Amino acid sequence: MSAPGGARPARPDSRPWWDGAVVYEVYLRSFADSDADGVGDLPGLRRRLDYLVALGVDALWISPCYPSPMADHGYDVADYRDIDPRYGSLADFDALLCQAHAAGLRILLDLVPNHTSSAHPWFRAALADPASPLRARYIFRPPGAHGREPNAWTSVFGGSAWTRDPSGQAYYLHLFDPGQPDLNWFDPQVRAEFEGILTFWLDRGVDGFRIDVAHGLVKDPDRPGPPLGQPETVEVFRRWREICDGYGGRLLVGEMFLHDYDPVRAAGYVGPEKLTETFDFTLTALPFQAAAFRAGIQAALAATAAAGGLPAWVLSNHDLPRHATRYGGGPPGVRRARAATALLLGLPGTVYLYQGEELGLEQADVPPDRRVDPIWTRSHGRELGRDGARTPLPWTTHAPGYGFTTGVPWLPFGRGARAHAVTRQARDAGAPLSFYRTAVALRRQLRPQLGDAVVFLEAPPGVLALWRPLTDGAALLVALNTNPEPARLRLSGPVSPPAAVQVLLTSEPEGAGEAQRAPAHGELVLPGEATVWVRCERPAPSSPDARR
Ligand code: NOJ
Repeated sequence: MSAPGGARPARPDSRPWWDGAVVYEVYLRSFADSDADGVGDLPGLRRRLDYLVALGVDALWISPCYPSPMADHGYDVADYRDIDPRYGSLADFDALLCQAHAAGLRILLDLVPNHTSSAHPWFRAALADPASPLRARYIFRPPGAHGREPNAWTSVFGGSAWTRDPSGQAYYLHLFDPGQPDLNWFDPQVRAEFEGILTFWLDRGVDGFRIDVAHGLVKDPDRPGPPLGQPETVEVFRRWREICDGYGGRLLVGEMFLHDYDPVRAAGYVGPEKLTETFDFTLTALPFQAAAFRAGIQAALAATAAAGGLPAWVLSNHDLPRHATRYGGGPPGVRRARAATALLLGLPGTVYLYQGEELGLEQADVPPDRRVDPIWTRSHGRELGRDGARTPLPWTTHAPGYGFTTGVPWLPFGRGARAHAVTRQARDAGAPLSFYRTAVALRRQLRPQLGDAVVFLEAPPGVLALWRPLTDGAALLVALNTNPEPARLRLSGPVSPPAAVQVLLTSEPEGAGEAQRAPAHGELVLPGEATVWVRCERPAPSSPDARR
């Protein structure tokens, strides 16, 4: 089964940087704190850039760092053209950008266009005066029957999506927290404002944007049906693409349908004149199971190829339980997480990593009195929320701040911070960090030789195997075995039987020996719960095997 581009091994040099890239999500609050307030910041990130260069990633996506009351930890923006003083200043941002570019790292900003903060001057003015023309920039509606909410829409964070304004005469819409009023994207002023915001940051030199709730912008409470995913939103992105193209092309990656992901619907927003890509959340909802992964990957490849876009793979982010925990936690969960990551790094498109996964961090068990996520507070503790994915990075083994802060961290460290610390792993060849560095470096090294073609092999239960042609005629075989025990993979198609195999990467250091054994009878032995990357040389035409 083949995917985008047919079996086209050549890789034109004109491909954009994100094609084959690895992007690392920096959840700024928890990355590195430079001023002892317990919250990560831009100067802290600058001091740790070397770590990210050594990790080998191509770009950083930085969570929102604009001035904000932090009702949703920065996804409630009060001023889109500045930096929150807790994170630094515009000068710090410019310095970061400059330092990152000098080190070969690109920077993506997190743009939050679906809603502003309730502290945004527009919303303040809209609330202050029920006759204000600025009310048209938000979604105010008169009460429904018996003074109730205008419709039954609910907030993603729980409860109604409507809050009564102080005048009592109207409700305003917030698909998230009441501190995040939704903008009215039918209003030309809203559109013009965001075009100005894009330009403001593009002029400073950013390399692209991650777009929050990208499917949600245009919505009309007077239309029947659910609020999200209206076709007019695409028009907004067409305009943004034009603006970005004026800067020589910039990456626009959309966050859509986080808990309801459908690759075909999402692909409607993607293409040469629209978004570059949308995060493919399919795999984040799947168990550690080869057949499920295969179906998810095939669906994503097909949908993005049809749209003329690229897949954007992701297993963890600041909204989801970490994948090591989803796969069972403890050493088995970490092992499976490495295997799944190694599979993703073997695929075409862009791979997004979430800070801390390279350390094997698991979801932290944050005590109730330390939880701060609005999902936790709005659900009165019925839902745990996302704090467990957002705890600070342990840089050193020194408690209590573990090199993250000399103050009190805004969220406590997860269990085992000392064991996971960067300094602990840096010299351990078997540690998750070493594996991530090796795998990311190998992806980068192979990138110029790999085309987009992906061909799946027949494989036994619990095994996903695919190959990608290399420009020199060999093939890269990527195989994931989700069975706990080793499996035998019969090589077929152009990788059968190879003149020679070379194991380039294995997610399980102990399993390397098994895979390394020369394939007997055209078979490869795959270690349990592991992914291997194998270079397969094509047999010489005169080889008797080739004629079989
Ligand atoms: C998605 C962001 O990733 C999440 O953290 C945030 O709460 C919502 N969008 C609302 O902005």
